[in-house]
Amino acid sequence: MLDEVVEAAAPRPGGRYVDCTFGRGGHTRAVLDRIGPEGRVLAMDRDPQAIAAARDLARSDPRLSVVHARFGAIGEVVAAAGLAGRVDAVLMDLGVSSPQLGQPERGFSFLNDGPLDMRMDQGAGMSAATWLARSSEREIERVLRSLGEERAARRIARAVVAERIRGTPVATTGRLAAIVAAVVRGGGPRTRAHPATRTFQAIRMHVNDELGELERGLAATPEVLAPGGRLVVISFHSIEDRVVKRFMRGDGAADTLPRRLPVVHTSRPAGAMAPLARARRPRADEVAANPRARSAMLRVAERRR
Ligand SMILES: C[S@@+](CC[C@H](N)C(=O)[O-])C[C@H]1O[C@@H](n2cnc3c(N)ncnc32)[C@H](O)[C@@H]1O
Repeated sequence: MLDEVVEAAAPRPGGRYVDCTFGRGGHTRAVLDRIGPEGRVLAMDRDPQAIAAARDLARSDPRLSVVHARFGAIGEVVAAAGLAGRVDAVLMDLGVSSPQLGQPERGFSFLNDGPLDMRMDQGAGMSAATWLARSSEREIERVLRSLGEERAARRIARAVVAERIRGTPVATTGRLAAIVAAVVRGGGPRTRAHPATRTFQAIRMHVNDELGELERGLAATPEVLAPGGRLVVISFHSIEDRVVKRFMRGDGAADTLPRRLPVVHTSRPAGAMAPLARARRPRADEVAANPRARSAMLRVAERRR
């Protein structure tokens, strides 16, 4: 969705931009191409390999500065750079990158056997294997159900704990995929996805606290952006998309109201952001070229002036 991201961020000569999820720099490069000699991009990523790639690019382009940080800390990072309230667009392209998925030793993919790690930053936090070894059956079930919407959550959690009791901790991606496949036996007739897809997604989101990061990152953007500045978010998960949509509409609290209470929309206090245009999905040709894009959702909002 590169064209749509660029259109949404509307980079202009002399503008200032924050790419929260550098990855391998596709979005950063597209922005750098459009901002002239006076424009600036601040790129962040929590993955040291992504940061190494960003620093390589920054060596040949002084308009780019690079910070190894989680975007949950965007408020502090941007303030330290002296850019608070002065940024023209913030980009967030959520989830994992293709290089992360493609390296068996990172432990993100059930397609390649490797250590069950799944941390975007291997220097911080607990690996997926450690989490599975230390968590109760109930906690594993809760995560698979809430973040993976996995109907077989209880049976999968029970199978993982049964392995532990037998003295074989679930330490590799291949082992976890096999356990899930034995319990779930195929994704059902309506889906061609691997039966372990939802389990891997849920555990990855949990060990990286992806929803917590998203909530903190979004909450800080109104102070980061200049009035009229844009927030551009691509999510890959329905729960993430709901969080983004609510934040952009400024109605995060609406769900806490009793169901039948009549809510007069004009009386709701306006949020700091105003959604721009409709949410967009990738084109059919993009999904054909990159099947991972099939669940992508692009949303854009503007900081109120
Ligand atoms: C889908 S990729 C981004 C691809 C990028 N737009 C490009 O053009 O190459 C997602 C990236 O976001 C990073 N990431 C995910 N959550 C993050 C967080 N909370 N803070 C910082 N980086 C994060 C991942 O490490 C990964 O490199």
